[in-house]
Amino acid sequence: MKANLVLLPGDGIGPETTAAAVAVLRAIATRHAHDFVFTEHAIGGCAIDATGAALPAATRAACLQADAVLLGAVGGPKWSDPATPARPEQGLLQLRAALGVFANLRPVRVHPRAAALSPIKPERLAGVDLLFVRELTGGSYFGARTRDAASASDECRYTVVEIERVLRRAFDLARGRRGRVTSIDKANVLETSRLWRETAVRVAADYPDVVLEHQLVDSMAMLLLTRPADYDVLVTENLFGDILTDEAAVLAGSLGLLPSASLGDGRRGLYEPIHGSAPDIAGRGVANPIGSILSAALLLRHSLGLESEAREIEVAVDAVLDANELPRDLGGQAGTQDITAAVLAALAHSH
Ligand code: NAI
Ligand code: MG
Repeated sequence: MKANLVLLPGDGIGPETTAAAVAVLRAIATRHAHDFVFTEHAIGGCAIDATGAALPAATRAACLQADAVLLGAVGGPKWSDPATPARPEQGLLQLRAALGVFANLRPVRVHPRAAALSPIKPERLAGVDLLFVRELTGGSYFGARTRDAASASDECRYTVVEIERVLRRAFDLARGRRGRVTSIDKANVLETSRLWRETAVRVAADYPDVVLEHQLVDSMAMLLLTRPADYDVLVTENLFGDILTDEAAVLAGSLGLLPSASLGDGRRGLYEPIHGSAPDIAGRGVANPIGSILSAALLLRHSLGLESEAREIEVAVDAVLDANELPRDLGGQAGTQDITAAVLAALAHSH
């Protein structure tokens, strides 16, 4: 298969972790005779330095032509002065809007090696394999806001179209997994949540093979820590999803392990590790590249339909964590290149 992949390494450790993911994608391409064409562009702080804009026109245009976009991270102390007119994070928000992505996928699998580092008891983490689907375009982050001396407001508004499209994504994804969707809302209090729940019930009628369950967000916050292995696909609105996905990241033991995907209506997607630019360790060759490598696996699965290639990468990462070569954030000594080499070796030994 031929694919046009845009790389946006960005700032801090972004270039280091993205290079690792590209090495793995090149190995997959060679092995399966795919033709992946990579084009690199600037986003975030480095783009501001070079062009004055966090999302330069050339970057935007390239992403709109791509089959998929792999991003590193944006931001850092150099660009964090609130007085600076252009902010690195704006590049990411503008890119998401340009690509029309509305579903943010965050899979959380817990490898036994990493479970030992989680504050949650290892026996509760056995078998955890979650897929969060967070709505990315609506709710209180994008509603009307007001401010006067004595009060402030953030409107939470959702349309049926916005709710339905992200729920359908969640149900479609559950079909390829264990066939369970947990829809998270606050329907005992909020009108947007009542609309969310009614829509979930209506959409579920089209998926008789998928089991739908509802949870209230406050209760879900507890269940995520007490019974995390009981859940499969979890779908929720923007603010609830922001909070719950950070909570779920704790289960996995380290930020450095977790990938994400942002998808719209078509196949094109934006893939990035969930960690930031980690300025404290940037340029030292010690960043854990696994979150970025697993993001490349999601890219193969969701944008290119290469499920078995995606699985190969995930199995190779598991094999590396099974062995004793661990990155620093998991208590080992291995650097970015050591881990990348170990994943490539595990890939070469598979089959
Ligand atoms: P961060 O995720 O960059 O770092 C938090 C801590 O985790 C740091 O101690 C860091 O060294 C460590 N860490 C993160 N990724 C790691 C990896 N792959 N391997 C080993 N250790 C890792 O979050 P922080 O410090 O809050 O933000 C730093 C900068 O990144 C800020 O400018 C922030 O705005 C930006 N940021 C960007 C994001 C993005 O591009 N999507 C997301 C989150 C933050
Ligand atoms: Mg967050």
